Amino acid sequence: MARVLDLLWLMVVVFPVALAAEPSPLQDFCVADLKGQVLVNGVACKNPSLVQADDFYFGGIRKKGNTSNPVGSKVSLVTVEQLPGLNTLGIAMARVDYQPWGLNPPHFHPRATELFTVLEGTIEAGFVTSNPENRFITKVLQKGDVFVFPMRLVHFQRNIGNTSARAVSTLSSQNPGIVTIANAVFGSKPDISTHILAKAFQTSNDVIDNIQLKF
Ligand code: GLV
Ligand code: MN
Repeated sequence: MARVLDLLWLMVVVFPVALAAEPSPLQDFCVADLKGQVLVNGVACKNPSLVQADDFYFGGIRKKGNTSNPVGSKVSLVTVEQLPGLNTLGIAMARVDYQPWGLNPPHFHPRATELFTVLEGTIEAGFVTSNPENRFITKVLQKGDVFVFPMRLVHFQRNIGNTSARAVSTLSSQNPGIVTIANAVFGSKPDISTHILAKAFQTSNDVIDNIQLKF
């Protein structure tokens, strides 16, 4: 009986903690073999003796991202996809560029908390807590300021200046994922039926059809 109770205690108390973050690596590195055929929770490792400095390097965010799009922002991610050396390390990053008044629209990361730092400009940041409170927490950030978007909560940033803005984020997963709310709800393939969305958003079918056309 005591052993059963011990086991229950382990499952209830220890297990959820162990699952709250990506597991600690059991080796110095596990450079992703992005062409590998083995499907694991992550990406299989390259043979360590074949690993090169370039496996730990990514030069792709030196330049400003292209912000010529309807929202006026560009998120350039550096995840295990771009930087194979990140595999199993539980971290990723992003460069975010904004046109004047550009918006990084409401989205969430299914696997990561995000630590956001403003490098240039003035940015309004916000996130919404879960149901039933749905409390909106927002702050205007200046150059050098840091803000955290807790894991899985819907958040956004908007440049509230007449000049370009730039920020950098670190994310607590090698593969944080992004779910952009508008794209997921109005741009799914195939479409979620107009009737469902009209009822959910308490509006008419025409309004929903119009929004769906934009995605
Ligand atoms: C990227 O996901 C960001 O919110 O900056
Ligand atoms: Mn984000």
